[in-house]
Amino acid sequence: MSEAGETVRIVGISGSLRRVSFSTALLKVLAERAAPAIDLEVVTLEDIPFYNEDLDIDPAIPAVAALKRKVTESDGVLISTPEYNHGIPGVLKNTLDWLSRPVFESCFKGKPVSIISSSKAFTGGVRAQYQLRETLISMHAHLVMGPEVVVGGVYRHFSDEIYTDEAGLLFMLKSLERLRETVVGRRVMVV
Ligand SMILES: Cc1cc2nc3c(=O)[nH]c(=O)nc-3n(C[C@H](O)[C@H](O)[C@H](O)COP(=O)(O)O)c2cc1C
Repeated sequence: MSEAGETVRIVGISGSLRRVSFSTALLKVLAERAAPAIDLEVVTLEDIPFYNEDLDIDPAIPAVAALKRKVTESDGVLISTPEYNHGIPGVLKNTLDWLSRPVFESCFKGKPVSIISSSKAFTGGVRAQYQLRETLISMHAHLVMGPEVVVGGVYRHFSDEIYTDEAGLLFMLKSLERLRETVVGRRVMVV
């Protein structure tokens, strides 16, 4: 990670509820390695109910309101997701549906976002990644460009919660650095 200068606050959203999820574990490894330049807060989605427009009213459901606030107050978002049946898991899409409202004014509007997909398969969840991009585009998020971060055979890279693929980890950290640079670059433009 390059010289910090200033810390950026990133919300890391995991697309998996699984107790020993690789998607969540990747976020935790990145949070440790990217500190202190990046303050990466790992978030899981157990408390988010099924989206129902009837319930999407004021006052918002507390878990939804809390997540919206976290995203709003963050400098950027990193989504780490598995692939389920060539798409993103329902829990992640469901959460993004909540966060997408109010339409055109969502907490993701203009928010720098990076994506990591992972899978036990060698394809690394690349199809889910493209579905996720489409959803984020509809929410007017600012997708940070660069090589896609796709982790194939993810189960092979963990040993007792230690990430053993250092080259792969450096590739992920570079993507995170691009996210940080996007945030810092915007701050410079605002000053
Ligand atoms: C319902 C379901 C569907 C899946 N579909 C795919 C798939 O289409 N492509 C793929 O590469 N892996 C697929 N997988 C494998 C998961 O992507 C893989 O197990 C992943 O590591 C799980 O993520 P997690 O460790 O974060 O929970 C599927 C797994 C489940 C449970």
